[in-house]
Amino acid sequence: MSKAVFIRTPSEGDLPAIVDIEERNTGVARKDYWKKRMEISEAVRPHWASLVAEADQRVVGFVFGRAGEMEFGLPGTVAWIEIIGVHPAYRGHGVGAKLLEQFADSAEEHGIETIFTLVSPANADIRQFFLKQGFTEGTMTHFKKVIKS
Ligand SMILES: CC(C)(COP(=O)(O)OP(=O)(O)OC[C@H]1O[C@@H](n2cnc3c(N)ncnc32)[C@H](O)[C@@H]1OP(=O)(O)O)[C@@H](O)C(=O)NCCC(=O)NCCS
Repeated sequence: MSKAVFIRTPSEGDLPAIVDIEERNTGVARKDYWKKRMEISEAVRPHWASLVAEADQRVVGFVFGRAGEMEFGLPGTVAWIEIIGVHPAYRGHGVGAKLLEQFADSAEEHGIETIFTLVSPANADIRQFFLKQGFTEGTMTHFKKVIKS
């Protein structure tokens, strides 16, 4: 069943909740990373591309992304979803879907027609989630070069 979820832009006071959710999801607490990420979001990234979800008067999820213009040979401006996380106790209540819905609405308001993200083949959950949100597998190939082995 869906919970009452409120989506808004994050503020510095949300940092502990964001760090906590990520630690629950990945086992890694990145306090310094998120402090810097938040500063970048405020200074460089479009405001609409960073969102938190509130339910029961607490932050229970987040999505952080950006907009890129004429990058990777793609025409125009596209939006990128870089990281999404929902508190394990609040999964399956539509929190992730609402975060992406607001992200997509804001991107559209800014003239963006396509949203990209990358999904690791090791992360079947995230893949299913994005498929459910109307994402389809694209045709671009990701390349990498290992520079230190
Ligand atoms: C993936 C994630 C964001 C989904 O959040 P959520 O709030 O539970 O998702 P929702 O409740 O909004 O689900 C929306 C839809 O996706 C589906 N879905 C969500 N997680 C799913 C999963 N693991 N497997 C299959 N389907 C899934 C839901 O069933 C729902 O479908 P419906 O619309 O038919 O009901 C959340 O599970 C999460 O934070 N996972 C860990 C994140 C992570 O590892 N991030 C690091 C990489 S960026």
